[in-house]
Amino acid sequence: MKNRFRIGILGGGQLARMSAYQAYKLGFDIAILEKTKNSPAGQLTHNECVGWVENKKVLQKFAQASDIITLENEFVDHQHLKYFEKLGKKVVPSSKTISLIQDKYLQKKTLFKKDIPVPQFYEVSAKSNYEELAALLGARFILKSRKLGYDGYGNAEIKDQPGYNKAIEKLSKRHNQLLAERFVHFEKELAVIVARTKKEIITYPVVETIQKNHICHIVIAPAQIEERLKKQAEEIAIECVKSVNGFGIFGIEMFLCKDGKILVNEMAPRPHNSGHFSIEACVTSQFENHIRSVLDLPLGSTQMIMPFAVMLNLLGKKNYGRKIFNYKKALKENDIHLHLYGKEESRIGRKMGHITILGDDLDEILKRAKAVEKEIII
Ligand SMILES: Nc1ncnc2c1ncn2[C@@H]1O[C@H](COP(=O)(O)OP(=O)(O)O)[C@@H](O)[C@H]1O
Ligand SMILES: [Mg+2]
Repeated sequence: MKNRFRIGILGGGQLARMSAYQAYKLGFDIAILEKTKNSPAGQLTHNECVGWVENKKVLQKFAQASDIITLENEFVDHQHLKYFEKLGKKVVPSSKTISLIQDKYLQKKTLFKKDIPVPQFYEVSAKSNYEELAALLGARFILKSRKLGYDGYGNAEIKDQPGYNKAIEKLSKRHNQLLAERFVHFEKELAVIVARTKKEIITYPVVETIQKNHICHIVIAPAQIEERLKKQAEEIAIECVKSVNGFGIFGIEMFLCKDGKILVNEMAPRPHNSGHFSIEACVTSQFENHIRSVLDLPLGSTQMIMPFAVMLNLLGKKNYGRKIFNYKKALKENDIHLHLYGKEESRIGRKMGHITILGDDLDEILKRAKAVEKEIII
């Protein structure tokens, strides 16, 4: 493999930024395609293509700047990915895999067909109404945008008819097709990162994720659940990746139900927020294995180097600028790993960075992570 081999990443957010660090570490170059200039990953490269995929010229320019193409989100329509493949560029994961994932309804159907447990779900059509869906799913259920949802932006919890009408109106602005699924009274949410090449398929330790307003807030590694359940979660995660013939890196989100059953919530064909802990806590991070798996290189060990890790997302606390208050205070303990994504503008609830702390005592590191979160204002 030649040095300075160029890995094109579709999307320039924090996931692309952290994958880019690892690409550089391994001696590769990157190209970034993002709608706006100076994105978190675009800042890192001279190969920054600004524009979006509807523009054929932009697509061609990006293809020329890349020897292989991967992605940091599932929002580029699979037809555009196919276009790259027609130009002779390898895309990992492939356009076919992405076509089965980027539509949440098709994704659930694909998993369901392979006997992978998922919450009960239905397609929502123009003819659907609250009564009919409530009869199938119970009075309380979740409506989701089939495409373009993230950090809870495409979701709405429904409890009654007026709520249903409001949600249909709001979500339809995002994407005009929706699905409805059963509200799961879960005990915990779990996640597993899977990396796959032609020769290997490996998992990271199962983690517990805690969401606030449908956004990932805290990740605890490893999940505090029985070994038996961990094994089951890993096996299910591997089956999910196989069901879409996926290669590269994937994050699989699951619900651990009160009766001990595991249901798959969704899968992402890219590095995942639940895997950020691996940067410091594992022998090889999810971002390094992202790069390795895309290039079909031998994968690195996913073993943890300390008994516990806590990752906490730093969400925007204000609606302006990128000034950070109490930066020094956040760093005052010498074992806190602070990551900031270099976003131009803060917004309340926007993912601006994260911190990770490793340790022997889970309660202690969890407390410390929450204390840092209180201090730092982004
Ligand atoms: N069927 C469900 N029952 C209960 N909670 C859910 C359900 N689906 C989603 N959620 C909650 O909303 C969060 C975000 O939903 P998800 O479908 O993963 O969307 P996103 O693409 O925004 O991550 C989940 O992590 C979970 O906390
Ligand atoms: Mg999710």
